[in-house]
Order: sequence, then C-alpha cells, then structure tokens
Amino acid sequence: MARVRLGALTAVVCVVALAGCRCRAPTPEQEAQRYLTDARFRRAAMEASLVNPKNIYSRQRLDAYGLETRGWDLLPEWNPRSIQVGAAQRAQLERGASPELDDATAPLWDGATPTSREGWLALGQQVFFRYPLRSEPLAAFALSQPELAEQVGLERSSDGTYPGLVLFRDVDGVTRVGLTCALCHSAHEHGALVVGAARRHFDYGKLRLAHRDQSSATIEPGLAARLARWGPGRADVTEDDDEDPVAIPDLWGLASQEALTQAGTIAQASPVALALRQETQLLQSNHERVRPPRVLAWALAQYVLSLTPPPGPAHPPSPRGEALFDRGCRSCHSNAAFGGKPVDASAVGTDLALAKGRARGTGLYRPPALLRVRQAAPYLHHGAVSTLEELFSPARLEPGYLGSPLGPGPVPGHRWGTDWSADDRAALIAYLDTL
Ligand code: HEC
Ligand code: HEC
Repeated sequence: MARVRLGALTAVVCVVALAGCRCRAPTPEQEAQRYLTDARFRRAAMEASLVNPKNIYSRQRLDAYGLETRGWDLLPEWNPRSIQVGAAQRAQLERGASPELDDATAPLWDGATPTSREGWLALGQQVFFRYPLRSEPLAAFALSQPELAEQVGLERSSDGTYPGLVLFRDVDGVTRVGLTCALCHSAHEHGALVVGAARRHFDYGKLRLAHRDQSSATIEPGLAARLARWGPGRADVTEDDDEDPVAIPDLWGLASQEALTQAGTIAQASPVALALRQETQLLQSNHERVRPPRVLAWALAQYVLSLTPPPGPAHPPSPRGEALFDRGCRSCHSNAAFGGKPVDASAVGTDLALAKGRARGTGLYRPPALLRVRQAAPYLHHGAVSTLEELFSPARLEPGYLGSPLGPGPVPGHRWGTDWSADDRAALIAYLDTL
C-alpha cells in the first residue's frame, strides 16, 4: 500500500510541477500540447504512472519509452490505410480469394490536429474502429466460414460490416485482415452496436482450436487444454507466455478511475496516462516496427474516456439497498463510477494470478466501475461468477460449488455481502440494478 500512495503522490506532484503552476490543474488543451510536443514530459508522466516498476509491463516501458535518442522514439510513425471488413471482403475470403485494398483508400488520418473536443472524439472513434493492432490470420480464417465466425463472436452489423475487423495495408506493404479495439470493446445488443461494451461472445481459445483442427497447425497439448477452458469473453493481453486470460471489461466510467486495468497496473493522475497506454499498446501489438502518430493516441484516449453506457432497463429505486451499499461497499467502490482505488489483493482474496503475475502484477486489485453492472457478467477479473445473485451468495464460497463458468469448485474472495440476510442481499442487488 505504501508504494501505491507514494506513486499517486509522485504523480500529483509531478503533474503540478510540470504545469509550472502550484494551484491549478492543467487544462485539457495544455495537457494535449505537452503530451504531443514534450518528450521529457511524456517520460516523466510514464514513470509516474507505473505502479510496480518491476513487472514486465513497466520494465518494457522504462527501457524503451520517451528516451528521444534511442528506443521507441526512433520508430517511424504509421498512419495506416484500412477499411472495415464488410460483405464483399467476407465473400472473397469465403471463396478462398485474398481481398485487396483499393489503392485509392486514404490513410486513416489526414494529418490535421483537431481543434475542438468533437474533432478529437471523431478522430478517436476512427482509431478505435480502424487502426489495426496487428494482422490476425485467425480472423481471416474464421471469416471464410460464416458459421465459425458467428460461433466465436465475430459479430456482424446490419450493414454487413464486422466491427473490429479491418482489411489493411500492413507495414510491409501486404494487404491483410487485422483486428482493432472494437473487436473486444464493442458488442451488439438488440441489434444495435454498443461501443465500450465488452465483446462477451468473443472466444479466441475456441477459434485457435478450430484452426488447429482444420489445418496442419499443432498446439502443445497442455496449451490446447488451457485454450479450451478460456471460454468466451476472456482474453490474454499480457506479454508473458503463461496464457492467463482475464475477462474483457466494459470501458465505462474510466475517467473516474484512479487506476487502469484490473490489477491497477497504471496510476491515472490525468488523461495522459491512458494516452501513454494506448500509444505503447499500439506499437507493441504491431511488433515494435512502427508507432502510432501521437495525435491518434491522444484522440483514442479521449474517445475511450468519453464512453458512457446506453440507458439500461428502468428499475425502481432501492433506498434500503443504497444505504446498505453506502455502509458495506462504498469504502472501496468510492468514486463517481462506483469503482475505486486499488486495494491489497490478499485482502480481496480472489484468485491471485493476475495481481501477483509477472506481466502486470502490482499485488493489488482495483474495484471496477459498477455502471450497468447487471450487464457486466461474468464477474470478477477472471469472469468466475455468472450472476450478481451468485456473487453475493455464500454458496459460491463452498467446496462443492458447481456454478462457476470456469469449472467446479469454490470461487473464493470478495466475501462482502455474502454473510448478509437474504433480504438485505435482495435489497443490495435491487440497488445495483439501478446503477
Ligand atoms: C483481444 C481483445 C482486446 C483488444 C483487441 C483490445 N482490448 Fe482492451 N482489454 C482487453 C482485456 C482482456 C482487458 C483487461 C486487461 C486487464 O485488466 O488486465 C482490456 C483492458 C482495457 C482497458 C483498461 C480498462 C480498465 O478497466 O481499466 C482499456 C482502457 C482498454 N482495454 C482499451 C483498449 C483499446 C483502446 C484498444 C485498441 C487499441 C483495446 N483495448 C484493444 C481486451 C482487448
Ligand atoms: C475492500 C474493498 C472492497 C469492498 C469493501 C467491496 N468491494 Fe467490490 N470489488 C472490490 C475489488 C478489488 C473488486 C475486483 C476483484 C477481482 O476482480 O478479483 C471488486 C469487484 C466487485 C464486483 C464485480 C464487478 C465486475 O464487473 O466484475 C461487484 C459487483 C462488486 N465488487 C460489488 C461490491 C458490493 C455490492 C460490495 C458491498 C457488499 C463490495 N463490492 C464491497 C473491492 C471491494
């Protein structure tokens, strides 16, 4: 805990010092300006945002980011040409042909720095849907078989496009199918695309296994067994090779969160922290061959921070549930989005693999935002609990518990509420339904 407090404090002091002003936080325009133009500012903000300098995530950044004369600053900028995969490309893949990108396709960005908030958000949306994290041959494989594509959660909009899948000219000049943010962070609900909602039908493990079965690809048996257990809505986005998937989170309320990622890997003193995350995520996923123009990383961060959930079904207020929440839950779920500051993972008591992992571990778990929490199932960082009722039921703590999507056995930890009376739990859940 001491380290986290210190980390947050350093971040505040540093932002204030760099702002050259002791009393006022920098305006969004000032922050954008500094992030875009000042390598030392970026380096200092990066260092301040890394909660545990020893994990792989931090070490990679400390070794390569914001060094001006070496490391990632020397990578060329990449402004890709891409289009969303639509019916025409799908049909070509189905026939076994390789779709080509029209030479007239313009680069994603016209090179102009937006001058209004609307301009930043519009550009950020383009990046979210169209900037390829990397090529994804497995997606091309699935698109050649519409049924498989559907089974593994490659969702199609009513206009025939696949949000999150693009046809793009790769860095080496070859046209490929690639994936973007929207693949994991947008989902259809009642026919409409909800941007920011986790793609809970996306099943990468199943896709890899289907590919193995239909091709000469081999997968080591232990890995195959793990992939089969991944299940939908979970993905391994870490840099180590231990294949430990976590639940894809909804992107609601992140502007209120003091830390980013479920293990609280990144302290978020200002929107610069997310821009740094996005800039480095895009260049790493692209195998460190190119880096995104920083204007695009800033736009993407602004867009992600602006995402809000669509209105959910109406629920009557539950004043008793709210009072119970304030007494039993607010100490941690304390901010405007009902998330909060990361807490010691051992005190939470849920599975420790992510919190203590080498990749992003901090020893902490961050209370997630609870906006539209009814729709956020399965719950906890690993998606081990299917419903709110089960999350607060004492049954899931018992050895004979069979209800977890991850397999038989208890789901320990986060015991708050599980020892309350059935009436109190019902009132609490009625309140959670209103968030
Ligand atoms: C393959 C699926 C996948 C793709 C593609 C993907 N993400 Fe994620 N994202 C995840 C998962 C899984 C996590 C949870 C990681 C964690 O908490 O450790 C996550 C976490 C995040 C978070 C942190 C959320 C929080 O609760 O603190 C943000 C922000 C985010 N992603 C934005 C993006 C953006 C922007 C892109 C595109 C550049 C992107 N993601 C691409 C799967 C994905
Ligand atoms: C000591 C801090 C703490 C307290 C007290 C606490 N929580 Fe949490 N809560 C957390 C953390 C940390 C997580 C994430 C744990 C994980 O993913 O392993 C979490 C996760 C959750 C989730 C899962 C959300 C999701 O999207 O997966 C819900 C729902 C929740 N808490 C509700 C509550 C309610 C209701 C109470 C009171 C009865 C409560 N919490 C009390 C820290 C706390």
